[in-house]
Amino acid sequence: MSNTDVKEQMDALVRELNQHTYNYYVLAMPTIGDYEFDQKLAELGRLEKEYPEFMDPDSPTQKVGGDITKTFQTVQHRWPMLSLGNTYSEQDLRDFDERIKKAIGVGFEYVCELKFDGLSISLTYENGKLLRAVTRGDGTKGDDVTTNVKTINNIPHRLKSTEIPENFEIRGEIFMHRAAFDRLNREREELGEIPYANPRNFAAGTVKMQDSKEVAKRPLDCFLYGLNTERSPFKTHWESLQQLKTWGFNICNHNRLASGIDDVLDFIHHWENERFKLSYDIDGIVIKVNNYSQQQELGFTAKFPRWAISYKYKAQEVETILERVTYQVGRTGAVTPVANLKPVLLAGTTVKRATLHNANEIERLDLHIGDSVFVEKGGEIIPKIINVNLDKRNAGAAKVVYPDHCPECGTALTRKEGEAVHYCPNDEGCPPQIVGKIQHFISRRAMNIDGLGNETIETFYQKGLIRHIPDLYTLHEKASELISLDRFGERSIDNMLQGIERSKQMPFEKVLFGLGIRYVGETVAKKLAYGIKNIDRLIKADFETLNSIEEIGQRIAESIIEYFRKPEHLTQVAKLKAYGLQFDVSENEIALQSDRLTGKTFVISGVFEDHSREELKDIIESNGGKILSGISAKLDYLLAGDNMGPSKLEKANKLNIPLISADDLFKMLK
Ligand code: IVH
Repeated sequence: MSNTDVKEQMDALVRELNQHTYNYYVLAMPTIGDYEFDQKLAELGRLEKEYPEFMDPDSPTQKVGGDITKTFQTVQHRWPMLSLGNTYSEQDLRDFDERIKKAIGVGFEYVCELKFDGLSISLTYENGKLLRAVTRGDGTKGDDVTTNVKTINNIPHRLKSTEIPENFEIRGEIFMHRAAFDRLNREREELGEIPYANPRNFAAGTVKMQDSKEVAKRPLDCFLYGLNTERSPFKTHWESLQQLKTWGFNICNHNRLASGIDDVLDFIHHWENERFKLSYDIDGIVIKVNNYSQQQELGFTAKFPRWAISYKYKAQEVETILERVTYQVGRTGAVTPVANLKPVLLAGTTVKRATLHNANEIERLDLHIGDSVFVEKGGEIIPKIINVNLDKRNAGAAKVVYPDHCPECGTALTRKEGEAVHYCPNDEGCPPQIVGKIQHFISRRAMNIDGLGNETIETFYQKGLIRHIPDLYTLHEKASELISLDRFGERSIDNMLQGIERSKQMPFEKVLFGLGIRYVGETVAKKLAYGIKNIDRLIKADFETLNSIEEIGQRIAESIIEYFRKPEHLTQVAKLKAYGLQFDVSENEIALQSDRLTGKTFVISGVFEDHSREELKDIIESNGGKILSGISAKLDYLLAGDNMGPSKLEKANKLNIPLISADDLFKMLK
């Protein structure tokens, strides 16, 4: 093969793999199987090794700690991991019930469970210790993801009970709560990474990551729903679920015992709407014959057990009219198209808008104004357009064309090759970008300025009171203009000005995060601040210096250098410095970085007089401690403030977990 052919082949592989990744994560519509994807990725890796000169920096092989499936050890399942027959029809459930009655008579019960929308996992325990965690894979063999699964808080590494079989497998579903999904996805977007389409994909992508440290940062959860042993100590599935709870496993509290198919249907009807109140996604209900010997009698078909079935809820879908497409410009300059719809009721809420992601999605749907579109609300909170009802398209309808200029400031948009998102490059002159940057600066996770909110920033910008971040610190000179604004009383102005003044004490890492440098998220800002110590050194730092700091890869290092190359950013920093903001890591803070709490776990609960929970969390983590999401036997300390919930207290007492105050924590650090 000639060099040109090799290069072409490599480029084609990069394009194809990036497209598959996009289809999988953004559109949630995979166009290739995991195995085939891995084969192509391996082929690209092989070519890159042989021809490094043709390597594309955007190659999917270069995504550090990326979400792409790489090689894990393959493990044979001792008991195959079967899937379930499923149906959307109640009549099918009645037929299933009739088949069972015919086979085993009438004396049986069902267990009804929620069908969690995540990825299934098989955990092997030997002598009470977690030995292995394996994904479903093709059902007969899966990936060994033990180190990643060990980061999940409610999967016990060691069981307390002694009354347990020497060797057993327990199966369940790993998933991510919607709130964590929203938060982490927002962070991904802020860092310019592809957001995941739904919590299931996020959980699956996380379990298959190479770096367990990264996995530990993404909160996953797990419900267990089945036990496999040589000789089960239990007679029924229900009994087994109750006992598994006492062994220390997380079993869902919503499981129900049902005496017949009518009970099962009641359970299904109940969860049809209630499911939206859960903190996680379910996509149906699983029904299992309770008695193990009856299960054995019923046996299996080639693919499914005959003793279980799943009922799936239909994704709620409605048809409505696309009135127009608007474009939102975010603080990073990303331009996101939004479908404005004729308001319609869907899954209990009125839907007026749906996300269109980017130009590719508009192209994929071939949208025209006035189209009749099908909108779906699945697990995701923001509804999406599934497709267009072409039969209803008006003759002469105008095709939706993604703009080539910023709808807010008119600057020509740019799009990096291989990327799906268009950006407005006018970061210093495009109003929503400026407002977004100031809003980010004052936000809770950055400078946390009391008495200032997003709307106020918007108003101040429109009235010409602020143009850039440093203008916040001259607002006290404009008291008379502020008082003349509607909705602003003397008290609220005082409160705001005090909040701004107090923010001058916020540590360097928060200021750095607040500046909104692309790819510099909260964690990166912290590593940078402690790694480089002050702003002057950061401004002067070259690529190698930055790259040598933990977590600072090529993309982040380049973005920092580019940021400080712009004179307007240097002016901004100089002004903030002159106003008294923190631009170095104080001795005090450096002293706070220790490993005194390494190996210790904490839960923070209640209200504290001198510190917010966020601050206490930061202190614990920067001294090597770990925060757990709930109280379990693995917890070392409950950091208790005022007004703590009684149930937490009771649980901690039951498990003999020591309660400590904020003072006790600081004593531990001395
Ligand atoms: S039992 C042989 N119970 O659904 C029966 N599965 O379509 C094995 N799932 O691969 C599965 N919640 O990933 C069972 N309460 C539940 C479940 C559940 C979710 C998933 C599981 C399985 C798939 C089958």
